[in-house]
Amino acid sequence: MMGGLENVLRKSVMMKTFTAALVLLAASLAACAQPATVSYDAAAKVFRLDGGGTTYAFGVNARGELQQLYWGGRLGATDTIPQAAAMPGWASFDSSYSTTPQEYAGWGAGLFVEPALKVTFADGNRDLVLHYVSHTAHPKGFDVVLKDIKLPLYVTLHYAIDPESGILARSATIENRGAGTVTVEQAAAAAWALPPAHYTLNYLTGRWAGEWTLTQEPVAPGARVLESRRGSTGHQANPWFAIQAGTPDEEHGEVWFGALAWSGSWRISVEQDQLDQVRVTGGFNPFDFGYRLHPGLSLETPVFYGGYAANGLGGASRLLHRFEVEQILPKTPATASAPRPRPVVYNSWEATEMNVSEAGQIALAEKAAALGVDRFVMDDGWFGQRKTDHAGLGDWYVNPQKFPNGLKPLMDKVHGLGMDFGLWVEPEMVNPDSDLYRKHPEWVLNFPGRPRSEERNQLVLNLARPDVRAYILGFLDKLLSENQIAFLKWDYNRNWSEPGWDQLAPDEQKKVYVEFTNNLYGILAELRKRHPKVEIESCSGGGGRVDLGILQYTDEVWPSDNTDPFDRLTQQDGFTYAYTPQVMMAWVTDSPHWLNQRATSLSYRMLSSMQGSLGIGANIAKWNDEEMATTKRLIAAYHQVQPTIVQGDLYRLISPRNGSEFSATQTVNRDKSQSVVFALIHSTQEGRVFPLLKLKGLDPAAQYALTVIEGKARTGTPEAASGAWWMNHGLEMGEGFRGDFQAAAFRLDKK
Ligand code: GLA
Repeated sequence: MMGGLENVLRKSVMMKTFTAALVLLAASLAACAQPATVSYDAAAKVFRLDGGGTTYAFGVNARGELQQLYWGGRLGATDTIPQAAAMPGWASFDSSYSTTPQEYAGWGAGLFVEPALKVTFADGNRDLVLHYVSHTAHPKGFDVVLKDIKLPLYVTLHYAIDPESGILARSATIENRGAGTVTVEQAAAAAWALPPAHYTLNYLTGRWAGEWTLTQEPVAPGARVLESRRGSTGHQANPWFAIQAGTPDEEHGEVWFGALAWSGSWRISVEQDQLDQVRVTGGFNPFDFGYRLHPGLSLETPVFYGGYAANGLGGASRLLHRFEVEQILPKTPATASAPRPRPVVYNSWEATEMNVSEAGQIALAEKAAALGVDRFVMDDGWFGQRKTDHAGLGDWYVNPQKFPNGLKPLMDKVHGLGMDFGLWVEPEMVNPDSDLYRKHPEWVLNFPGRPRSEERNQLVLNLARPDVRAYILGFLDKLLSENQIAFLKWDYNRNWSEPGWDQLAPDEQKKVYVEFTNNLYGILAELRKRHPKVEIESCSGGGGRVDLGILQYTDEVWPSDNTDPFDRLTQQDGFTYAYTPQVMMAWVTDSPHWLNQRATSLSYRMLSSMQGSLGIGANIAKWNDEEMATTKRLIAAYHQVQPTIVQGDLYRLISPRNGSEFSATQTVNRDKSQSVVFALIHSTQEGRVFPLLKLKGLDPAAQYALTVIEGKARTGTPEAASGAWWMNHGLEMGEGFRGDFQAAAFRLDKK
């Protein structure tokens, strides 16, 4: 009797699972086949955007506010979304205006949750209530115009959905059509809303040499504020979030994620309100903010991207990676198509620091070329009177003592060796001990009569100033015009202090937070236009300026000054939740490592870095034949599979976080014809064997041949087997794969 019931139950569960799988399959097929659709239901006043596997909808409620209605898995094409109905208030303390999830709420009318926009009008009025006025549709979305209920302050909300990923781009234009000046005190790019449920918030925090820590915590009543007040993105928090329904899971469950495209001071607040609704509001950091909008002027916010995945944090990051590669990063100019995998770089920083010379760099270049390196980069020290970090920043002429014949002999040598040439710059900074500062002490961020706080003996040039902008664009343009430079490592080694812009009237000066970053983007865009072949890396003492704003103008980033191969595994794990391995530069440096004094084998160091965009940053002048041979062999192996690693689908099979003994990643290319697996041991304990790796994302019916890149597979592992075999039976590491800092790598190629 019981057995019969069990069978019935099991069958019913199986049927449900089967049906659910069919629904999922249908949904994903539908998602592939369907283009983005954008529709407006005039009767219900509902806006709907569909792309990839996602639907987003909002509408105009009876009061005229724009209210969020739905964000999640793609709905049926014929489904109708009911008209927006404002939420009820809660007693006499939380009005309906406050409890209703608005797309872009003005601070006014008793709003106690985070506003999207807060202003002060010329007459002292600070009440702002935005109502729908009109909209226009375009193939990927809408521009929706809102206006204050009384005054001619207009806000246009921009929406665009990416047909493939379903990732939305949202931003706002705030326009003063009145006769008096309006001061914008807080302006978000967008607010996202989620209905009441149990959620986990994922975000990235860190510090110099310790960036990219994934922090996971339950969303709780009140607000979790992620921000930078530093003038730039910052190492300490990154403008990315992911909210998962329930508890964290790599491959299952609903995830809503977002990334703010802004490299200046920013803020994202994740708020659970009195009715347990969750709102994520992000944009300019309102701290010390004040943008004066004179009559007729407008302010553009950054773009806040937001996406949805039904298959866990892994699914979310795979969507984001593809979107970044296809929609955010600069295209390869020759083909106008997706960015090419990064050249394998050699960088001299850890080898020579600032003691650069023509002979020393040539010696390194010869050895780098012998390794199979594609690009040789000379780091800090080549310019001005730069011997230490006390002098030289701002004086961008070639140091005549170090390079008596200019850069040409070195560049010719590098080119002759078959590599291209790159150079380090730090354009927005100045040392007080420089000709530039002696000539233009007024060019730095400062409050007259107040101290000018130095960090690393440098001050921040006020890039918001037109003359500073012209100087920086001018010297970089000259440098790139006069030399055959393929690449700039653009560094930024401190945060702001005393952020005054004393050229302007006192009440205008806070504009610096917007204009500085816009001028940075403007210079990068102009340089790319004038020198379309030049590639640029965003570095800020490591990963202090990584965001989707700067990535529209730069090809790669330096994730951290910490190149310890073990620390890098956790950093790379955290980094890839938000950013694609395509931009994640990873150098192999010397052992023991300068930061942790940890000794690791060259093979371990190589395999740690090969999971991103590989570079060599060791003092290779000292390397012996064996080290040269190992690196040469592994660079050659990397070159063969690099597109799969950096642009494929990434599966974090075993996370190195939380003291894990093991870690493993797997990437699969777009057509599922190749996959690459990395397996690393931190330190074997109690004789444990490396876990069986059940691979993911392969074509179950296809045959894949296994090739060992480094290490070995368990005796008896088939030379070739079906995708189903590798995914279900799994890949077993070779016997004896244990110890401290061990590493193995494999590739699978479809036969
Ligand atoms: C920063 C960078 C390093 C190096 C130094 C040079 O710290 O992150 O990689 O370029 O500056 O001064």
